[in-house]
This record gives sequence, C-alpha cells and structure tokens, in this order.
Amino acid sequence: MKNSINRRKFIIGSTAMGIASGVSANVNAQTPMVKKGSIKPVVVASGNGHTMKNGGKFNCVETAFNKIVKGDDVLDSLIEGVNIVELDPLDASVGYGGRPNANGIVQLDSCCMHGPKKQAGGVGALEGVRMPSLVARDVMKKTDHHLIVGKGAQDFARNMGYEIEDDLNSDRSRKMWLDWKRRIDPEHYLDPEKREVAGRNAAMDMIKEGIIPEDEYYGTINCNGINANGDICGVTTTSGLAWKIPSRVGDSPILGAGLYVDGNYGAAGSTGRGEANLYGLCSFLIVEEMRRGSHPLDAGMAALKRIQENTIEKRLLNERGLPNFSVNFYVIDKQGRYAGVTLYGESSSGEPRKYAVCDENGSRLEDLEPLLSGSSA
Ligand code: GLY
Repeated sequence: MKNSINRRKFIIGSTAMGIASGVSANVNAQTPMVKKGSIKPVVVASGNGHTMKNGGKFNCVETAFNKIVKGDDVLDSLIEGVNIVELDPLDASVGYGGRPNANGIVQLDSCCMHGPKKQAGGVGALEGVRMPSLVARDVMKKTDHHLIVGKGAQDFARNMGYEIEDDLNSDRSRKMWLDWKRRIDPEHYLDPEKREVAGRNAAMDMIKEGIIPEDEYYGTINCNGINANGDICGVTTTSGLAWKIPSRVGDSPILGAGLYVDGNYGAAGSTGRGEANLYGLCSFLIVEEMRRGSHPLDAGMAALKRIQENTIEKRLLNERGLPNFSVNFYVIDKQGRYAGVTLYGESSSGEPRKYAVCDENGSRLEDLEPLLSGSSA
C-alpha cells in the first residue's frame, strides 16, 4: 500500500516537473522531444555519493552537479565526483581502502559511458590504481576497446602514466579482511563448494554482528547525471564483492549491467549483488524500458522484477522464498526525471535504504523505492 502511494506521488511529481521544465514527452513515438537548455540538471548516485567527502567540503553529487551547471562535460563532472569516493578510505567499497579479495588484494572494477558521444570504457580486476574510473575513461578515449582487465589493465594504466601502488588496503580494510579470514575453517580451502558457503556465511555473520554494513559487502558507487541540454552520462566504480575469489568481476565494469547510457533515452546503473544483475543485464533493460516510454521508476521496477524471477536457486533465497540479497538501481531519463529503486527498502539492520540526489535544491538522501517489503533477511 505504502509503495503504491509513494510511486503514484513520485510519478505525478516528476511528470509535473518535466512539463514545468519545458519537456514535451512524445508518448506515441517514445522519443522525448527535448529543447536544448530546458532540462533541469540533476545527478543521482548511490547513498555514498552523498555521505563521503574524503575530508573535503563537497560530496560526489554536489561536485558533479556544480561542474555540470558550470558547463563542464557531464562525464568528466561525474568522474570528478566519484573520485572523491574512490580516494576516501572511509568508503570500504570503492577505490583506495575498498574491500580486498579472498587473498587480501584490492581489485577494482569501473566503467563509464558518454551518452552524446556514444562512447564507453571499462576496467576489471585492476590492482594498484586508486581511481579506476579515470583508467576506464582512458580506455574509452585512448583505445578502440571497451574493456581491459587484470594485469593488462594495470599495464595499460602504467603506460598511461598512472602511479601503480603495491597495496590499496587501508588499515580498516585490512583489519576487516583479517577478521573474515580468522573465521574461516582452514579445511574450507580444500573444497571449493565448502569454501563458497563458508566464505559467504562468515561474511553474513559479520554483517549480523554489525562489523560491516550490509551495503558494503557488495559496495560500489554508481553516479549518473544530465545537464540542461539533455546530455546524459554515467560512471560506476567499485572494489566489488568483499573477499571475492581473486579476479572475480561483478556487474560494475560490464556495460549493460553495472551501467548503461543511451544519450537519446537515459542512464541506469547499479549497486548490490552483481551476479543477479549480470544475469539479466538490467541497466540495459532499464534503458530499453525507457526507450519504450516508461518512467524511470517503472523501468527500474521492471528490472527488479526480472531479478526476482531469475532468482530460483535455493542458496539465494530467504525463508520467505525471496532473494536473500538486495540490488539497487539509479536511473535518469532524457527529460531529467529520475528514480532510485531497490529490491528491499530496508537493510538487514532495519535502516531505510537511500540514494543521493543533487539538483537546484542541493544534495540530499532520498528513500529508494522498494519492490519487496522489509529486508532481504
Ligand atoms: N555490484 C558490485 C559487485 O557485485 O561487484
């Protein structure tokens, strides 16, 4: 009941905003007619886009928004925003101080897409570079390719002049990894199946004990923005799943999964369980839904429903028979309408899940719209 009221209010509010800002939505052809200069710029991101400042004055979404309204390139603005989170050691899910893999090594994933230029780039399992989003942009700008991974990504970064560090762990991320490691029965290293179950159970216990927040287990920041001319871009960057099998790559650097931008229709990106998103390439699905005329909120909900439908393995279901994880999407369409959606509106500790928004009214956290009630527990 609460959901339907929220959703209805949201759609009415956003549509009114679209009309007020000079957009005429062509409902038949589904191609939004956008008058240059008529869009109200907005930036949306996962909640860490509001909370992390790396000791500075501005957070990610404010930084990106301020640059966008000054007329800077939208993607460059978003990347400068997420750089703050990548460098912040307090964010244990992105960049420096991100959660390491099972061997204690921080491996980072990122991708970016430029809507108007129809260009994209990404890196996966990159070690030693604090801001993988910059390397992703260099893959986009300086190569003919879309994705470079592992040692090759590091070699590419070195050749582009990036400093390669031996270890991107912070004291905090190393301490958490040691805690996780301590909980693991040495026997489980001998049996890959036991290893997966034991590793996940240890992580779930640490979440229940309040040692790590649930959202940091999957981590990530996705940040999308639009300027007054309707230029849309997006970037996603992450250390990926905490204590993953080395070289595991999740959804974040995969175009269509962790991020998808079509300059004519909109942008969508994700945080949360990457494997669930990868299976349905849900950011692409969301943008395709918007191409067919859906509001960002409905497009996001369609992706969440697809994830729920595709989750049938018992080990991924809770006692209610529903997914035992969450996935979140941050969505903007060509008209500047936006939405943040999540499988579950509450974290496992009962906190409401939120996302970051920055527009002419400043930076704030808004509630993510949930598909399912309660938490994934
Ligand atoms: N969504 C982040 C990951 O699964 O790696």
